[in-house]
Amino acid sequence: MDLGIAGRKAIVCASSRGLGLACAKALAAAGCEVIINGRNRDRLTAAAAELKKSGATVIPVAADVASPDGQQALFAACPEPDILINNNAGPPFRDFRELDRQKMLDGVIANMIVAVELIQKAIDPMIAKKFGRIVNITSGSVKMPLVGLDLSSGARAGLTAFLAGIARSVAASNVTINFVLPGTFETDRFRSNIDATAKKKGVSYDAAFAERVGTVPAKRIGQPDELGAACAFLCSAQAGYITGQNLLIDGGAFSGAF
Ligand SMILES: NC(=O)c1ccc[n+]([C@@H]2O[C@H](COP(=O)([O-])OP(=O)(O)OC[C@H]3O[C@@H](n4cnc5c(N)ncnc54)[C@H](OP(=O)(O)O)[C@@H]3O)[C@@H](O)[C@H]2O)c1
Repeated sequence: MDLGIAGRKAIVCASSRGLGLACAKALAAAGCEVIINGRNRDRLTAAAAELKKSGATVIPVAADVASPDGQQALFAACPEPDILINNNAGPPFRDFRELDRQKMLDGVIANMIVAVELIQKAIDPMIAKKFGRIVNITSGSVKMPLVGLDLSSGARAGLTAFLAGIARSVAASNVTINFVLPGTFETDRFRSNIDATAKKKGVSYDAAFAERVGTVPAKRIGQPDELGAACAFLCSAQAGYITGQNLLIDGGAFSGAF
């Protein structure tokens, strides 16, 4: 399927590996110029080299997306993106009693405020051009609570509510704002979570992995490219009538009719 976005410029935050990289890959395959990002320069350079092999135009920006300087560097590389994919690391598992005020503020900044700041920078040129696609990678935990990830769930639910009205306010300009909600995907973050669970329970990595797979109706873990493909479709020309939506991609883990 031709997504109708060849030549569009896309900033993909936090994309040197994992779900962000998968989104960058899918957008590059659709012919977009992609600005990829991460803090570790070596990993970012390797990801850019890999993406360039397919002939894509790739601009790596080594920066912390949560910092004002990092955001400035991203927009210096691409002042008027047509597509913005918001992504960032999530906070670690923690009992909510251990969260002091500063930790809570940090979590809200990382998983809510940063995305809003980037949208503030990107949206007016999108409106002027009558084309814009914004996708926020949040989490299945927005809909289905995960004890220990309460800060992540709360900040991301806050982002979802914050942007719900804004999505409607820019829809007439062919600017859409949507959310993809990953369930369990095989990334480095997932692997380190399984490792930590295995150590905590005193079981092997394989046993902890199998237990997690058992909780997913699809009986497998998602592959990042599956999420990347869905994200690229939400950025397509054809998806202009889809806005303000939360797309769960979780192999059926969220059990509900709606
Ligand atoms: N994987 C899952 O199953 C799953 C499920 C639900 C939600 N999520 C959420 O989806 C997001 C992506 O997860 P993932 O599994 O793809 O994680 P990952 O494999 O750990 O990859 C994270 C990527 O983000 C970059 N990054 C992290 N902090 C950054 C920062 N401050 N500035 C710029 N880049 C940054 C990392 O590069 P550097 O470290 O070099 O900066 C890396 O490229 C996270 O918010 C996670 O909580 C994931």
